[in-house]
Amino acid sequence: MSQCNQQGSARNGPSGASPKTSSFRHRYLNGWPLFWLFVLPMTGFMFHAASAYDLASPEGVSQMIGYSVRWSVPFIYAVVAASALPVLFPSEASRWCLRNRRYLGLVFAVAMAWQGAFIFIISNLHTGYYYEEVYYLRDELEGSSGYLFLAAMVFTSFRFGRQFVSSAQWKVLHRCGVYFLWAYPFSVYWWNLYYYGNPDTIDYVYYWAGFLAFASRIMAWAKRRSRIASSAGTPGASAARTSPLLRALGILLVIAALSASATGGLWREAVSGFLLAPQWSANLELWLPFWPLEPFLPLIGLGLGLWCVTGGLHVAPPEQRRSAHLASSS
Ligand code: HEM
Repeated sequence: MSQCNQQGSARNGPSGASPKTSSFRHRYLNGWPLFWLFVLPMTGFMFHAASAYDLASPEGVSQMIGYSVRWSVPFIYAVVAASALPVLFPSEASRWCLRNRRYLGLVFAVAMAWQGAFIFIISNLHTGYYYEEVYYLRDELEGSSGYLFLAAMVFTSFRFGRQFVSSAQWKVLHRCGVYFLWAYPFSVYWWNLYYYGNPDTIDYVYYWAGFLAFASRIMAWAKRRSRIASSAGTPGASAARTSPLLRALGILLVIAALSASATGGLWREAVSGFLLAPQWSANLELWLPFWPLEPFLPLIGLGLGLWCVTGGLHVAPPEQRRSAHLASSS
């Protein structure tokens, strides 16, 4: 009952404005018009930048690779956060983001297509430069996997492509693809901050935006779990109440994870050395994307911490999880 009221007031917004009158419902700000609203100016900026750089030189093309991908990054971050935002901050704005997730994803794909075109140019017209300055097996595998995911996701985002996959396959493909395509830029900016030194402002902005985008998913997941745990009479409720030690451990883990996210430069070398010490791990690093996962360790710690805080091993019955999920995402 109280949940219904909460949802009702959230739907109307703090000002009480009806969703029908909200500007987030305006037809130009939703669906395909929204897609074009982003894609057309982006295309203009891309031509403008291309005319400023010397595209006859490999360095100029490389600049365009970086420039085009900077357009794409905010959109993949928005797609990652979209399902979490209405759970954490129920509002017209967060629901707008979720509703338009598909179109934001397609804008990301267009920006990545620009990057793909410049990669094609550099690897075909400046092959020597490409293999000397750009090519590195692991990066190539990471990047190519990213493009394969992207192509499959775009294809199955339309009805003609959707028919080739079952609904379960579609979910797995899109979830894994979104995670992979988020992980790529997030880890690039993490390395820029904590390894290469001399980071630019944009490195900080894109690192923290990527961190917050994924952290919002973890927090939304924890919020759903705690809802289940606090609903009367569930095993989770007792687990949450009777494990102060687990909660304390969880809180410590969360604090450690947040500190680690801001201080990668202090622990990176020691942790990399430790994780890459076994020969099998050092071998994996040569080809396995993202291995040994240094940029992601703080987020893994955050997830573990919130898992402890919200009841640890307690697993709620699937129907409870479903109803809590529906209640929080509606
Ligand atoms: C085989 C595929 C790929 C190749 C060969 C490639 C190549 C490059 C190159 C040469 C740069 C450096 C540009 C410069 O600053 O001079 C770059 C930057 C970057 N790429 Fe890729 N890339 C590939 C796929 C991807 C994918 C799938 C993503 C995922 C979104 C991605 C994300 C980035 C990011 C975030 C940067 C840094 C941009 C910045 O400077 O802010 N790349 N890439």
